[in-house]
This record gives sequence, structure tokens and C-alpha cells, in this order.
Amino acid sequence: MTETLDIKITKSSKSRLAETDFSNLVFGRTFTDHMLVADYEDGEWKNFEILPYGNILVSPAISSLHYGQSFFEGIKAYKHANGKVSIFRPDKNAVRFNKSAERLCMPTLPEDVFLQSLAAVVDIDRDWIPTAPGHSLYIRPFMFATDQFLGVTPSQTYKYMVLLCPVGPYFTKPLRVKIETYYTRSAEGGMGYAKSSGNYGGSMLPARKATEEGFDQLIWTDAKEHKYVEEMGAANAMFVLDGKLITPIAQDTILDGVTRDTVITLARDWGFPVEERKVAVAEIIEGAKTGKLTDAFGAGTAATIAPVGSINYNGEEYTLIDAKEREFSQKVLKTLDAIRYGNAPDTHGWNYFV
Ligand code: PLP
Ligand code: COI
Repeated sequence: MTETLDIKITKSSKSRLAETDFSNLVFGRTFTDHMLVADYEDGEWKNFEILPYGNILVSPAISSLHYGQSFFEGIKAYKHANGKVSIFRPDKNAVRFNKSAERLCMPTLPEDVFLQSLAAVVDIDRDWIPTAPGHSLYIRPFMFATDQFLGVTPSQTYKYMVLLCPVGPYFTKPLRVKIETYYTRSAEGGMGYAKSSGNYGGSMLPARKATEEGFDQLIWTDAKEHKYVEEMGAANAMFVLDGKLITPIAQDTILDGVTRDTVITLARDWGFPVEERKVAVAEIIEGAKTGKLTDAFGAGTAATIAPVGSINYNGEEYTLIDAKEREFSQKVLKTLDAIRYGNAPDTHGWNYFV
């Protein structure tokens, strides 16, 4: 633990809180009053500052715009009934933040600096944390290259920032998903395990095509054969097949999700069999046909536990059992919510109090 992070604070002169409609939050559209900014220069992090949310001035030549040296994290903070505020497992995001940084030749941020920076800005905007069921404060830490230089080489300077958004549920109904058999999100040796901005840019065309065909999300498959499940949109793909929780191994083509790890940990706590392994599309489809696939969902910070309603593979549609009837994902969601809102014992120490 380093000493307390020195953060310059400039409060906004007029809060936008009173004029914000919390009953109609669109994910990622509403920002709180403040944001955090820091600079990396001369080989060190400096100028940590919390200031009113607003535009920043950058040169059009910054290398993140041209070459994609940029990545982000996604985390949520919750308000408990007793007014306490906790952030869910930010230590895991701190580790992944630095994995992304290393993959992109960007500087790492000491874990405790990351945690203190989140806590400081969340604390200032704690009145923005919604308390309605399924609501929370989404925390978006990110880093981008700021050198004014068009050479393709790692930048020497960077900005680290944290934005906050009050959010409701990301998905509101069971998803109609399509198993993608042409486009690829990431390949071995690529940067699928990093939360690199470019991964999301590359997913937009396939996702838009799927939306135009009436699907809500894609299930990505492996780049070589398109035979194995990788991820589901911006979430990890998890299934209950033949009474076991199965999910692809979080190797280098897959984002190692915090929610995924949380679900696996809960399942093991309950003595529920878990298999982290290659998951063949064929076995999922077979399970959907025979009824042995009793649950399927995306697990992610924004998505939380997002049930899959139906799976489309090569034009055939397989409808799964009613999401409300599913024992496993319903229990996971209930347990997770109870821990995060402070209504159940946090035996793993997942809540980081602000
Ligand atoms: N996979 C991708 C591509 C994502 O964008 C996300 C969302 O963050 C996840 C998986 C789930 O990760 P986590 O549970 O850490 O949010
Ligand atoms: C998250 O769950 O934090 C994500 O990354 C999803 C996001 C791209 C909306």
C-alpha cells in the first residue's frame, strides 16, 4: 500500500442531480457531476485531479485516435440499505487493467492507486448511486495515448480517466442470440484478453448485421474453425448442460470476466459441478434439442446475468426453457444482488467499501 493518493479536487458549482430522470436511464448516457483525470509523463503518474465532468482538450494527432492505444474497464458501485457504498471486486479489475496496459505497451497503474482513484470519485458522487432494483453506478476507468506523433510507436504520454454513470439493467428481456460463424472477435496471439478499445470497434459491424437480422447479441466462436464457443457480445458465455456449469476457459482469446469468476466461485460454494473447458457449439445445440441445456446466460458487469432466450445456429432457431423457470441463473442473480446490495453475508470479501 502506498501512501494516500494526492488528488486535487474541484467541485462542480451546480449539481445536475436534481434534473436527472432516474426512472429512464439509458446505459452510459447519463454522467455524474465529476470525473477523475491523471497524466503519465516522464515515466510517472501525476496530476491526479477530480473535476466537473466535461470536455477535455486534446490534440488531433494523439496516437490513441490513430493507432488505438486505448483500453478501459467496467465496474459497478452499489448503495446498501444502510447508506454504505461498495464497489464490487475492483481489485480484479485493477489486475486486468494492467494486463490490458501491458498488451498495448502502455504504462501500468499501481493497484492501490487504481482503487483509491475509484473510491475518491465515487465518494464525491455517492448521491448519484441509484437504489432501485437492478440499478447501480457504472464506473468506467480508461487510459489512452496522448503523444502528438504519427509514427507507429508506443506513446510516451498517457491520460488515465474515470467516468461514472448511474445505470439500470443493460438488457431487459431474454436474449435472442446468433452463433457467429464468419466474423471473429479475436484470435490466438491477438488481444482478446485485453479490454482494448479496438476489440469493441471490430465487433460493431458483425453486431450490427446481427441486429438487422433481429438478434440481440452474438455468440463468438473460435477464429480457426468456428466450432467452439468463445464469448457472448460484451459478456462471458455460461451454460448449464447435463447438470454442470460449463464455460470456455479464459485463455488469450477471451476476456477473463470478473462476473464469470464470481459465478464459478458461487457454483463451487454450492457444490455445483463446474467445467472450464472447450465448449463445442455442437454440444450446445444438441443440448438445446434434447432439453439437457437447462440454462444459458451471458455474465458481465454491464450485462449482469443476462439469460439467453433462444439460440440461432446456421439459420435454425432453438428456444430454451423460460428464463424464469431456470434454477441456476435465477439463484446466481438473487445471491449476487443480495451480496452487492449488502443483504447477504459477503463471505469472499467482494465488496470494497468507499
Ligand atoms: N467479455 C467481454 C468482451 C466484455 O466486454 C465483458 C464486459 O466487461 C465481459 C466479457 C465480462 O467481464 P466482466 O464480468 O469483468 O465485466
Ligand atoms: C462491461 O460490462 O463493463 C462492458 O464492458 C460492457 C460495455 C462494453 C458496455
